[in-house]
Amino acid sequence: MSFSIERYKEESRKLDVAGVRWDEVTRHPLSRGDLFCLHYMMDIENHVPLYLSHLLVTRACMDPVLTAFLACWNYEELWHGENLGRLLNTYGIEFDQDERIALVRGNLGAANSLSILTTMAGSWLFKDFTAVYLSIGAINELSTATGYQALARRSGHPVLRDLLGRITKDERRHFAFYYNSAREWLRDNRGGQRLDRWLLDRVWVPVGQGVKSQEEADALALYLFDDEEGERALAAIDEKIGRLPGLDGIELMSKALRGARQRAARRPGWGWRLIEREAWAVGQLRRQHSYSG
Ligand SMILES: [Fe+2]
Ligand SMILES: [Fe+2]
Repeated sequence: MSFSIERYKEESRKLDVAGVRWDEVTRHPLSRGDLFCLHYMMDIENHVPLYLSHLLVTRACMDPVLTAFLACWNYEELWHGENLGRLLNTYGIEFDQDERIALVRGNLGAANSLSILTTMAGSWLFKDFTAVYLSIGAINELSTATGYQALARRSGHPVLRDLLGRITKDERRHFAFYYNSAREWLRDNRGGQRLDRWLLDRVWVPVGQGVKSQEEADALALYLFDDEEGERALAAIDEKIGRLPGLDGIELMSKALRGARQRAARRPGWGWRLIEREAWAVGQLRRQHSYSG
């Protein structure tokens, strides 16, 4: 798997939705679980500019290749969120996309600012912090692509499957960048490998957790991956990431699923109750917002 930044800069563009059958969206049902996942995924796609604000304050961004990638990547991710929102609106779920984005951001509170400061400090204190950020990027892009494939399969909705297939192609390109860059950084770099492994084992959380609660992240994992096929898909991510220098045998995704299953076993209804309660609704977000602030 190779990646050329020059080619990526030339070819980066807004998601092509020409030919997507928006007029057929309402002809096929989506389950509550599908809708839960779609709202989660849309919110996290729309969170990318805030995630970017964490990256731009790090030492890693002294590298012009990285900032060129981030400029294009941020633009592409914008259209993932926009189009997932468009599909939900077309399906008949009424919300204003900008209002929802503002509510999700409003819920983040002071933790977001604190996390910018710690990321910035970490990156300037430890040169190899870049390796951690690149590895996390690789894991997150690959698990996002895997999640979209799982949702396309699970929902059986033809228009959604078409849209997610298009988005997944972008995610795979993003993964190729992060993965190759992480491999370069970690090659023959024992210190970087140790720091990367140590932090991934301790601070990594599945995509979206932090913006979403532990239970929301668990609900997504249980809905999409709680069967043999799901286990295999997550093990394949672990296996790929384990091929990065110093990360042999790492099991982040499989461990996250085991954790979700354990919490669900301890608390009946864990995760699924959010899906049943339609916890994605804008009204609930607004309540959360006013409680927190
Ligand atoms: Fe995306
Ligand atoms: Fe992506």
